[in-house]
Amino acid sequence: MPQGKIKRGRILSGMRPTGKLHLGNLEGALKQWVELQDEYECFFEIADWHALTTAWQDTSELHQFIRELAIDWLSAGIDPKRSVLFVQSLVPEHAELHLLFSMFVPVPWLERNPTYKDWIEELGPSAATYGLLGYPVLQAADILVYKADTVPVGKDQLPHLELTREIARRFNHLYGDVFPEPQARITEFALVPGIDGRKMSKTYNNHILMSEPPEEVERKIRRMFTDPEKIRMGDPGHPDKCPVFSLHRIYNPRETEEIETECRSGKLGCVSCKERLAKRINEELDVYRERRSYWEAHISELDDLLRYGSERAREVAKCTLEEVRRAMRLWR
Ligand code: TRP
Repeated sequence: MPQGKIKRGRILSGMRPTGKLHLGNLEGALKQWVELQDEYECFFEIADWHALTTAWQDTSELHQFIRELAIDWLSAGIDPKRSVLFVQSLVPEHAELHLLFSMFVPVPWLERNPTYKDWIEELGPSAATYGLLGYPVLQAADILVYKADTVPVGKDQLPHLELTREIARRFNHLYGDVFPEPQARITEFALVPGIDGRKMSKTYNNHILMSEPPEEVERKIRRMFTDPEKIRMGDPGHPDKCPVFSLHRIYNPRETEEIETECRSGKLGCVSCKERLAKRINEELDVYRERRSYWEAHISELDDLLRYGSERAREVAKCTLEEVRRAMRLWR
């Protein structure tokens, strides 16, 4: 391998700071981010302006949510030495690019956006703000300001990625080639069931946080739904119908086969099956707990890290905006 600069693709992804992350977020996004750090130059954004698009009434917890999100990321292994962690609102170039894009993005593109329609249905007509309508335009600015070529996201974000590509194409067509068309990288992962067997989600309140204390993990797993046909110990179970077993598959691959056989034969009772699962989840979370406790004791170092990351992000963003202003023949 030659020394010096090795050309790698560039990744940009982000999350809205809306509270602590749970195991669904960990499996669905964060673990892939951690791995991608080896292959790509990574920018990870705390999208606080995006959080405001639906949470503008009450901003009292925003600071806390930003720090919590950063700590969840760091605890999972996002490495600030290799990747740029930054706060969206500390990089005002995102707002400038969003404004410029908004001049040529047709409103019907945004009204068609399924995410927008879902939000309005969920939150009511008062949620229909200018900012929320422009959510994907801001997301396009997030991605394009770094000229990212790869964007790891869940399937729910595909409409936003498609819009990002359309915006890039339209800009390039109007003013000349500035932006690459970024590709979504869909994260394939086993669906993580919550403690009631439905998809793990804060909305259902069936989640286990990454930052959950060990006793809480044990308590929640103990309360988990299991195969409804296995009532007494000794009854043969159906692992494929049991959310506890789905979690074994994720957190206890070594014992999965054994547990499957013992459950089917009726030898393994749900109580001890759950105890084994809680133990494994806690072993994995212990690694995160150790990093978490460091950052929780060093909040000002955390704030510095985010400010530093935002400055690095800003250097890249400024260069792109220079190019954009030139391409658009704006007063410079
Ligand atoms: N909209 C994304 C979500 O809700 C968060 C986000 C904001 C994002 N900006 C981004 C994701 C840029 C990828 C790229 O999950």
